[in-house]
Amino acid sequence: MKEEKAPEKKPQDKPKENKKKVEDPLKDIVALAKRRGFVYPGSDIYGGLANTFDYGPYGTELLRNIKDLWWRAFVREREDVVGLDSSILLHPEVWKASGHVDSFSDPLIDCKQCKSRFRADQLVEQIAPDAPKGMSLDQLQEWFTKNQTQCPTCGSKGTFTPPRQFNLMFETKTGASGQDMTIYLRPETAQGIFINFKNIVDTCRVKVPFGVAQIGKSFRNEIVARQFVFRTREFEQMEMEFFCAPGTQAEWFEHWVQYCMDFLIRIGLKKENLRVRRHEKDELSFYSEGTVDIEYNFPFGWGEIWGIASRTDYDLKRHAQFSGKPIEYHDSEKNEKFVPYVVEPALGLNRLMLAIICDAYYVEREGTPEVRTVLGLAPGLAPVKVGIFPLMKKDGLAEIAREIYKTLAPYFQVEYDQSGAIGRRYYRQDELGTPFCITVDYDTKENNTVTLRERDSTKQERVKIEDLVKILRDKVVS
Ligand code: GAP
Repeated sequence: MKEEKAPEKKPQDKPKENKKKVEDPLKDIVALAKRRGFVYPGSDIYGGLANTFDYGPYGTELLRNIKDLWWRAFVREREDVVGLDSSILLHPEVWKASGHVDSFSDPLIDCKQCKSRFRADQLVEQIAPDAPKGMSLDQLQEWFTKNQTQCPTCGSKGTFTPPRQFNLMFETKTGASGQDMTIYLRPETAQGIFINFKNIVDTCRVKVPFGVAQIGKSFRNEIVARQFVFRTREFEQMEMEFFCAPGTQAEWFEHWVQYCMDFLIRIGLKKENLRVRRHEKDELSFYSEGTVDIEYNFPFGWGEIWGIASRTDYDLKRHAQFSGKPIEYHDSEKNEKFVPYVVEPALGLNRLMLAIICDAYYVEREGTPEVRTVLGLAPGLAPVKVGIFPLMKKDGLAEIAREIYKTLAPYFQVEYDQSGAIGRRYYRQDELGTPFCITVDYDTKENNTVTLRERDSTKQERVKIEDLVKILRDKVVS
């Protein structure tokens, strides 16, 4: 059979994302993130792949610390929550049952003139913040025709295609032959929890009310992905599905909203940069009885970091219907059978990391020899807890510093650095968010003491080497 050739595309035919040049309010954060090994542009040496990012050594540690704190608060410290690690690839029926195949889509429009691509609802909000939310495709079409909207990229008027729905799930195929099943990369971790509800009830000693938590990658083919790691096509979620008896969901919902807010404050986010926004009725997802977003005040404005939804019994009932297997909980004390209701706090790890960096970032221009850029991270989050420096490489100071490194490494994330002027080494650690630095100097050889410098105040105290583990344990462990 003759191979069919795809029609050649001229470069200007390629749909583009909104390329309008605007001053990036995140510029300094993005620059620090790259300069200090937190976040690199994805596939950098190949010229980059739009909207993908790689996390460098310090970003990796920061993500790990966030995950550990979340897991501790949502699983280890809760007698009523267990963990799960389900597959990214699930049976395609899962996504039919959940409603994602039919309705996990955003309205898309293209400018016929310059081929820029937009999310129609976001463009309306950008142009007319007071326009009604949650418009249908027909309503959006009517709005664009009536307003003869100008394309933000090329400025031409009335050149938009009619809006159409664009499904956000990434499709792929199983197996090597082209005839195999179409499957999807999961767009949320939640469904892996719902389909394992019965397994967990049957194998673990859980009793409703209880929750199942998991951390993992999710994928969404976002039409407009932007604002650094705020909206990307590959990201990580930390979700928990809390199963409760019908009628108790409203109380649990309020419990989890408060618990999530407390968690954010406990890990160090400033209260004034957080707010709770309750969804209006016309904003709710079709399965939701009530949704609250916890939003963070990013440099580009308020943005959702945590969605808490009262998902009713929708998901469990749909999976029972589509799989043909009954999913019911038997309350042996009351001798009752019911399908549990679900409250779901769903958090984006990368968004939370961005909020943490924005919250911690500050620049000090006065009282320091040079401009001092600091990430004032809480010790529990900091990628490096303690920087260890010999004042000089010579005279045996480096050997003592390395011994201290070996003593502290089993307890804390530590970093050894002997290169450059001592002030520069402190400033580098300040930018990484390292809360404490130890310097070995000539007095150390005399009396076995070192200086311990605190990041925010830059104050130094002399402490005995033998006391370091205890002193730092008290300061670092939160
Ligand atoms: N299971 C429900 C659910 O997934 P969601 O509000 O769509 O709810 C939860 O997602 C969280 O996941 C969001 O609050 C956000 O922090 C994060 N998230 C969603 N889409 C994202 C994207 N494209 N890039 C980065 N994070 C995203």
